[in-house]
Amino acid sequence: MACPAVWQYAEQCSFQEAHPGFSEGWGCFYFQGKIAAFVPMKPIFILNGPNLNLIGEREPEIYGAGTLADIEEGLRKQASAAGLEIDFRQTNHEGVLVDWIQEARHAASALILNAGAYTHTSVAVLDALRSLSAPIAEVHLSNIFKREPFRHRSYVSPASTGVICGFGAQSYRLALAAMIEILESSAATRGPHA
Ligand code: DQA
Repeated sequence: MACPAVWQYAEQCSFQEAHPGFSEGWGCFYFQGKIAAFVPMKPIFILNGPNLNLIGEREPEIYGAGTLADIEEGLRKQASAAGLEIDFRQTNHEGVLVDWIQEARHAASALILNAGAYTHTSVAVLDALRSLSAPIAEVHLSNIFKREPFRHRSYVSPASTGVICGFGAQSYRLALAAMIEILESSAATRGPHA
């Protein structure tokens, strides 16, 4: 994994130190001998399912004119302003999505998931999500409850911490803001010996 922005900052200020008392995946850095911040060392996974590679071209009246690359760029800036990293991916294949969700069990501090059409069909995605202990945000560009009845059912929601839909690209930004707050407040409640 690349060095998260917060550690680069810490290195520049030359007070970086990993605290041995932290749980795996958490770290802190010091300023003038005192702990200045607690930071999750794992990236936030942002996973996208089928056909989301086509947004910008596909049904722009529903999904907007922006591309997935535009969304990724905005989220990367938003995360880095909070000293965090994202791992942003898209796949058209259900099994690949399941593999990535399983990978998130150990490699992610949180998961933001737009499972596309698999939202409405995939018990395999639900089962994989249920194996995660990290917070999960389900996102959709469109308001799935305003659309065809088959989109009203989600196999992702029962395993998710929260659901955001209908705000276009902003659905992702809101989900990332929520995840950053959750991670920061859980870091703030951990002491060095937690
Ligand atoms: C979607 C909504 C799904 O119903 C649809 O199959 C998608 C995109 C959304 O972001 O609005 O592919 O997840």
